[in-house]
Amino acid sequence: MNTSIRQLTARRIWDSRGRPTVEVDVVLADGARGRGIAPAGASRGSREAVDLRDGGNALGGFGVAQALAHVNGPIAARILGLDAMDQQAVDDALVALDGTPTKSALGGNATIATSLAVLHAAAASAGLPLWRHLAGDSPVRLPLPEIQIFGGGAHAGRRVDIQDFLIMPIGAASFDEAMVMTAEVYRHAGELMAKAGRRAGVADEGGWWPDFASNEDALEMLTRAIDAAGYRHDEVAISLDIAASEFRRDGRYVLGLEQRSYDSGEWLEVLRGWIDRYPILSVEDPVAEDDDAGMRAFTEAFGDRIQVIGDDYLVTNAALVRNAASAGCCNAVLLKPNQAGTVSETRAAMLAAREAGWGMVVSARSGETEDVAIVHLAIGWNAGQLKVGSFARSERMAKWNEALRIEAELGAAAVYAGRQALPVGWR
Ligand code: PGA
Ligand code: ZN
Repeated sequence: MNTSIRQLTARRIWDSRGRPTVEVDVVLADGARGRGIAPAGASRGSREAVDLRDGGNALGGFGVAQALAHVNGPIAARILGLDAMDQQAVDDALVALDGTPTKSALGGNATIATSLAVLHAAAASAGLPLWRHLAGDSPVRLPLPEIQIFGGGAHAGRRVDIQDFLIMPIGAASFDEAMVMTAEVYRHAGELMAKAGRRAGVADEGGWWPDFASNEDALEMLTRAIDAAGYRHDEVAISLDIAASEFRRDGRYVLGLEQRSYDSGEWLEVLRGWIDRYPILSVEDPVAEDDDAGMRAFTEAFGDRIQVIGDDYLVTNAALVRNAASAGCCNAVLLKPNQAGTVSETRAAMLAAREAGWGMVVSARSGETEDVAIVHLAIGWNAGQLKVGSFARSERMAKWNEALRIEAELGAAAVYAGRQALPVGWR
């Protein structure tokens, strides 16, 4: 088969927040086709790949005309003729063409959509589902999902400060059962909110709107929802994405809801109290992206019993993962392909984490589409964990449902990663 890239086209489509985003179609010489779509974050790390937007008044400044022009112009000129089967060479070409540390010249949205489109086209040419194309003969597992039950932070008008209150169905026997457990907890959480007169729709990723009097109130309610659904805490555990960079001001952690502020050491004690009182098994970005001492102290204090994920802190960057591992910061990485800007750089960050014995969580963004590529990456790379947002709205459900289809396709050979995917904890 001739798998050289023959055609590349970018178009504007729309994401789950009704904002424009970049879609790229690739056609290979053998006729195989692939499509990649850029997602978009709202609570972004300062070191992640730049999401290139047009600015100005139209579309709130979120236009992607420049990013589209970059794909149709310089990117096409550079990668037409390259072999789609050599993802690394295509991604290296994108990195070199851009020439900046954060894809600020071409736009990370332009490069990730292109990179994913090429990957899909290669799988299509091989006649394989993407996950199988990525895995080859290596073993795969269905990921342990992290599912948001309450949204907060930048995804809920900062109604509460903590961004994601999530569950992990560690005790499920299969991905299918994990979804049943999730559905039950999500439903009970909604009913408890309704009973309390606080049910007010959903946040950006589909989690219940966090109408709480304090951040801890949300933890309390989530624990009650798990209990009401009838699960033990060694079956369904809590995961938090603190996204602490979002509420760090002048070196202090400022909780708007409680109107209190803490220095790094005091903030660690607040988190300690929560970890002691609630069944929390994973915490993401407990401190701000520039608080290295805080991250080291947090990992030292809790890293032997809970997963400590770096998201804004590591921005899907292999070098940052290696540095953090040697500095004793974090024991897991969040993998967002558009934070890196190419598939190969995302994979490199994943491999650096695997090398360090860390947890690996492939993740969506708060701005998503019907695209399900990340599910295939999580399974094909055997990352072990997948974070997609909540259990509502089709841009989220499309991902969970895709994993169910892959589990069904694997049949008796399907293995659910469950708690084994965690670097520590209740194994
Ligand atoms: P974002 O946040 O996609 O809005 O940047 C998601 C996360 O922090 O995990
Ligand atoms: Zn995060």
